[in-house]
Amino acid sequence: MEGLNFSLITTRPELFEYEGIFLTHYFTDNWENVQKFQARPDDILIATYPKAGTTWISYILDLLYFGGAEPERQTSVPIYMRVPFLESNFHKIPTGVDLANNLPTTPRLIKTHLPVQLVPKSFWEQNCKVVYVARNAKDNAVSYFHFERMNQSQPTPGDWNDYIQKFMDGKKVFGSWYDHVHGFWEKKQTYFNLHYMFFEDMVENTDHELERLSSFLNLSTSKEEREKVLNNVHFDAMRQNKMTNYSTIPNMIFSISPFMRKGKVGDWKNHFTVAQNEQFDKHYKVKMKNTTLKFRTEIS
Ligand code: A3P
Repeated sequence: MEGLNFSLITTRPELFEYEGIFLTHYFTDNWENVQKFQARPDDILIATYPKAGTTWISYILDLLYFGGAEPERQTSVPIYMRVPFLESNFHKIPTGVDLANNLPTTPRLIKTHLPVQLVPKSFWEQNCKVVYVARNAKDNAVSYFHFERMNQSQPTPGDWNDYIQKFMDGKKVFGSWYDHVHGFWEKKQTYFNLHYMFFEDMVENTDHELERLSSFLNLSTSKEEREKVLNNVHFDAMRQNKMTNYSTIPNMIFSISPFMRKGKVGDWKNHFTVAQNEQFDKHYKVKMKNTTLKFRTEIS
């Protein structure tokens, strides 16, 4: 299968409030079908706030399930076709719902950025496994800023100072980072088929996270199998791999910023001024005061 064949969209979409969060029409145009989506008990939902490592975890899951069986899939099907983006409707390509409904695989791996309260009900009713990846707010904001600069299907990011303010206010596509990471953290307390992962742990020790993930999925992976996955999902390997680096999407202008940008913990230090950092920390403290959820903004 080839990459997406849609022409460059030059008009950036507007951001508007919808169902209590901020979205663009790319994610509301197929709303009813998304909400009515019929999950199957063996579907696996990959849920993230944008730029938390969605592509990385998608590729890990894809390799864990299908890496050995279908070599052709690895060389000719881009990751966004293997793992459909459920709520997306980019018009010139099938909707995320259609792509998901036509997936030939079992399990079906399905991606969403919707906050927990807007995830289609059938995933919970079918007790589907959910893999959530969260990333510390500062690096997440930096990554999202560069993504909005390069991706013409996102609203204009404005300058970095405006951007941080909008991020803090939750005025970003898919809403507030704070609400998103909390929503799934709270859900995990009562919904046991949810595996909550952190981008920082994945960077620090990918093998360990792979083991934990395999155990959650009830997959027995040998050390050799894991090593093979690890080699493929390394940042440099994914950056060079046309099936995982999004270079097949014309809307993303890599000369502005590549999709696989840095893949680091702590890059926020190269972006936040001392004043911005103080303001962000103050706001963060208030937003995160009643939670057991803790993030690392650096790793040693
Ligand atoms: P940066 O912009 O900080 O580099 P998403 O897939 O949710 O859009 O997330 C993209 C972010 O995850 C980017 O962060 C990207 O570089 C990072 N990423 C993707 N694959 C990675 C990998 N194998 N190792 C480390 N980071 C990775």
